Amino acid sequence: MARRKKIYEGKAKILYEGPEPGTIVQYFKDDATAFNAEKMATIEGKGVLNNRLSEFFMTGLNNVGVPTHFMRRLNMREQLVRACEIVPLEIIVRNFAAGSLSKRLGIEEGTALPRPIVEYCYKDDKLGDPLVTEEHIAAFGWASQQDMDDILSLALRVNDYLSGLMYGVGIKLIDFKIEIGRVYDGDFQRLIVADEISPDSCRLWDMETGAHLDKDVFRRDLGSLTDAYTEVARRLGVLPKTNGHTKPTLIN
Ligand SMILES: Nc1ncnc2c1ncn2[C@@H]1O[C@H](COP(=O)(O)OP(=O)(O)OP(=O)(O)O)[C@@H](O)[C@H]1O
Ligand SMILES: [Mg+2]
Repeated sequence: MARRKKIYEGKAKILYEGPEPGTIVQYFKDDATAFNAEKMATIEGKGVLNNRLSEFFMTGLNNVGVPTHFMRRLNMREQLVRACEIVPLEIIVRNFAAGSLSKRLGIEEGTALPRPIVEYCYKDDKLGDPLVTEEHIAAFGWASQQDMDDILSLALRVNDYLSGLMYGVGIKLIDFKIEIGRVYDGDFQRLIVADEISPDSCRLWDMETGAHLDKDVFRRDLGSLTDAYTEVARRLGVLPKTNGHTKPTLIN
């Protein structure tokens, strides 16, 4: 069998050339990293869960009219996506204070914010993805003013969709990060949600107990990351219900 061409290997995923022009295969690895890769581990099953969860969120977004790169899942670890030019920004939306915002501004984690706060970080691992303002983004030409309007609107729509979905299964969406890509339809450029949406890129707290169901379990050594992600998948109906005696099995 012909080997596929690897385009890029990141910390969590590998990109391969897709079967048709303009497509990419995203392979979800089991590797977990935190604090800009200072902390690393392999967590069995994480890639499978994130592939399924990202499929679930992106399909939902596509269905409610928020365009994403997701085309279809190929197998347990891979999905076919539309290739795009990634805008070199991480777009963070926060509903409750946590993580770097709490540290930076001295606000206790879990404090409800008066309104969703959108932040931008410049995607550069060597610099540790620093926080930037719209002034930097405009001055360095990372995105135009029209792009920024579209990015803000996409980010807030993703926030509304995800926070409602999570609320329905007893989970508070504290914050999340997305990446946005440019695609070209003839002469027109459009922006779509790319990369992944998973418990690696969101903060999810159980509404009743406050338990962390996201990558903070790994960052802060709070227990089993696979159990936390499995719980999210189970609540959303992405995994079949079990009788509680057996470990949930993923159905391809
Ligand atoms: N549809 C897409 N088209 C092209 N590139 C994409 C698409 N979706 C995601 N990417 C890029 O693919 C890579 C995914 O790999 P991964 O998430 O492992 O990277 P990473 O280690 O987080 O590094 P970085 O995001 O800093 O490149 C990212 O660089 C992401 O920006
Ligand atoms: Mg990434």
